[in-house]
Amino acid sequence: MSRKIVVIPGDGIGSEITDSAVAVLKKVSEKYNLDLEFETHPAGGTAYDLCGTPLPDETLNAAKAADAVLFGAVGGPKWDNVDPALRPEKAVLGLRKGLGLYANLRPVKVADALVEYSPLKEDIVKGTDILIVRELIGGIYFGDKCESEIHNGAERAWDLENYSVPEVERIVKFAMEAAKKRRNKVTSVDKSNVLATSRLWRRTTAKVAENYPEVALDNLYVDNCAMQLAINPSQFDVIVTGNLFGDILSDEAAVLSGSIGMLPSASIGFSTSLYEPIHGSAPDIAGKGIANPVATILSAAMLLRYSLNEDKAADDIEQAVDKALAQGYRTLDLYKEGFKKADTKTMTEAILNNI
Ligand code: NAI
Ligand code: MG
Repeated sequence: MSRKIVVIPGDGIGSEITDSAVAVLKKVSEKYNLDLEFETHPAGGTAYDLCGTPLPDETLNAAKAADAVLFGAVGGPKWDNVDPALRPEKAVLGLRKGLGLYANLRPVKVADALVEYSPLKEDIVKGTDILIVRELIGGIYFGDKCESEIHNGAERAWDLENYSVPEVERIVKFAMEAAKKRRNKVTSVDKSNVLATSRLWRRTTAKVAENYPEVALDNLYVDNCAMQLAINPSQFDVIVTGNLFGDILSDEAAVLSGSIGMLPSASIGFSTSLYEPIHGSAPDIAGKGIANPVATILSAAMLLRYSLNEDKAADDIEQAVDKALAQGYRTLDLYKEGFKKADTKTMTEAILNNI
């Protein structure tokens, strides 16, 4: 039975990088007989121009019916003055909500060939291979809030954090399963010395971990984790944490790699999941054919791993990327003298040739 992938290129470099990722998916589909079917739909500013809304119903419904969604990026200066409710970025929020994307996965792997781009010293960053699992639809971002009230004679505002046991169980189970496919280690990050939600988080995590004796569980306070990421990032395998801490730590971890064009992400939903590079639509280089397609190609590898259970094909793509880098291919964002200067097409072909 064929499996349907809905491709949402979006704006800016979106169509250039999703074209590359689809070419790679088609190649592994042939090699491993995956029987993939592709369907493209508009979103973002492009959709606003076409149909007056950044997320047409037709796009959302197609995404819901798909086996997986491959997303490029949305936004750009062209839509700066659009009504805030119709801004391109609303498409991302609408998809998150519509698909119930509860877990955000942010791998940070520093390829041996690229350690020199890290802001950290080579011997510290070498071997870093982390998967951050962030809870995405609960916690303080979605709790009750008050924009302004008078309390004891002073104006104040507040945001309420709450987590339920099933919410924590769901995300920790996901992290444990992911660790089983990796190096069998989970670090749960909280602030249980101060926060009640963190104490519930910690005791629920311990309960879930009882079902995974093969996985080593570690607990860290978030402030310590922030430091450890900078001084000893290679100690981590899977990090699992709530929405707020995950937002901050995943961006901190992303800069370790030193190259925004390299990092993929996945947002896991109850039935359909969405895969996208962590960078935006890069309007400054859009249409020039020079964008780095690797983040989106690695997002496609995650799609195979997490939505289609095709680990072999996913491994193949990841190895093909590493090999292209080892062969010296560098897109402009990473180019230095002595390497092979590659535009989007050249980089994509180098990767295709390694599959
Ligand atoms: P950006 O990530 O688009 O670009 C930042 C810088 O990195 C730019 O100089 C860009 O040329 C470069 N860059 C990004 N991806 C690259 C790639 N694959 N290859 C080579 N260079 C790359 O972030 P920025 O400039 O803050 O935002 C631009 C637009 O993207 C905005 O409208 C923003 O709202 C939107 N955006 C959309 C996201 C999404 O769709 N999920 C996420 C982040 C931003
Ligand atoms: Mg963020």
